[in-house]
Amino acid sequence: MKKLKLAIIGCGNRSRIYSRIASEQTERYEIVAAADPNNIRLAQVEELSNNSGFRSFHSAMDLLSCKKLADLVIIGTQDNYHYEPCKKALEQGYDVLLEKPISPSIEEILELESLAIKLNRRLQVCYVLRYTPFYKKVKEIIDSGQLGDIISINAVEGVIPWHQAHSYVRGNWNQEKKSSPMIVAKCSHDMDILSWLTQEECTSISSYGSLTHFNAKNAPKQATTRCTDGCPIVKSCHYSAYKYSEEHRTPWLEQVYDNALNASSEEIEDWLKTSNFGRCVYHSDNTVVDHQVVAMEFKNETTATLTMTAFEEGRQIEIYGTKGVLKGGHFLKVRTGKDIIVKLFSGDEVTHTVNIDSTDHHMGGDQGIIDALYSQMTQEVPVPVSSYIQSHVMSYAAEESRLSGNRIELRTFKEQYTKMDRETLCTQ
Ligand SMILES: NC(=O)c1ccc[n+]([C@@H]2O[C@H](COP(=O)([O-])OP(=O)(O)OC[C@H]3O[C@@H](n4cnc5c(N)ncnc54)[C@H](O)[C@@H]3O)[C@@H](O)[C@H]2O)c1
Repeated sequence: MKKLKLAIIGCGNRSRIYSRIASEQTERYEIVAAADPNNIRLAQVEELSNNSGFRSFHSAMDLLSCKKLADLVIIGTQDNYHYEPCKKALEQGYDVLLEKPISPSIEEILELESLAIKLNRRLQVCYVLRYTPFYKKVKEIIDSGQLGDIISINAVEGVIPWHQAHSYVRGNWNQEKKSSPMIVAKCSHDMDILSWLTQEECTSISSYGSLTHFNAKNAPKQATTRCTDGCPIVKSCHYSAYKYSEEHRTPWLEQVYDNALNASSEEIEDWLKTSNFGRCVYHSDNTVVDHQVVAMEFKNETTATLTMTAFEEGRQIEIYGTKGVLKGGHFLKVRTGKDIIVKLFSGDEVTHTVNIDSTDHHMGGDQGIIDALYSQMTQEVPVPVSSYIQSHVMSYAAEESRLSGNRIELRTFKEQYTKMDRETLCTQ
């Protein structure tokens, strides 16, 4: 078995998770290089590599300007710095595992798709949910035909209030202009799952949503602009930033603070005084929505809805077929221990339990994608890059509908949107 040589670009939270999982599969993967301007993170990936010949670079372009030194690059930089390293990597002869979203611009997304096809490179996007035992089981049930024809689907992405506050109020994805709209940043996963489950082209989309809760209007009267400014209600506040030095060191603090597990509470509290993560959630500079609904129609007339809300915990799905109904997800799991219930109109009812690693915050998808990566990068027929594009177009179309109040026809949108960029969308 030939080992796949991996180079890591951007050694942040996501790349370190993938590097750790790959480093546990020494017969398949060898991490040979990494690039990040942050020396601490670079050193963490070097340590995971356990490779004396490991090469460190301080930027993506430094690594990519060298002679090709790996089979595959994993790109885990932030949303607005995916396009350049991905383009360069494809041109340099690398196959690529790219974090989602591919880019904040549909034009760039389509360009990377064309480039990968033209150069015959494998370009895979980190839609980790496809690799979870849960969604693999749902797909297996649909494909078995037991539900009959799929008529409609309801999906829910419950972001969880603290996760919303951490990532989308205080954190990296709190403004469309800095990263991407919420429906892209969080829910292109869900759009991908809906496309993957139905295997149908989405033709039309409508969407509504707002930033309703996490704003100054809802700030308790006594709340200070930072939790560390002597806020009198900090002890009873669900979103107290002091929780970063207590129960939220893992996984939240460690995503954004390099020495999270070993730092003293005083060090962390000192950092909170100036960090974005010390801000009151009602006095941040967030602009992305905290709830959004999307209604979709597919080519075969299947309809689907997606509800994204800060105020639910985990994903749920309901699938209505001509022969029966499937319901599953987090809500069912925590109340019954079962992941999926299938109720057929013939009277039969079957429950399914899947094995989910509770430490994997993507329902086992992070492990799953790295497990599958080797065969996908070496098998004769690659996963077509085009299979990752529809979800991006659907997500941007949903945002366009939310902002304009119009129903969006996907084909026309895709044609028109190739000429627009992120700035244009965000300022509409
Ligand atoms: N697949 C998923 O489920 C999932 C989940 C969360 C985040 N994401 C996406 O993954 C990506 C990374 O997110 P993250 O939380 O790991 O971010 P992060 O901020 O922790 O990591 C990004 C890293 O890129 C480095 N970097 C910046 N400029 C660089 C350059 N020029 N060359 C090399 N490295 C550079 C930064 O120093 C940082 O370490 C984002 O696009 C995000 O939206 C995907």
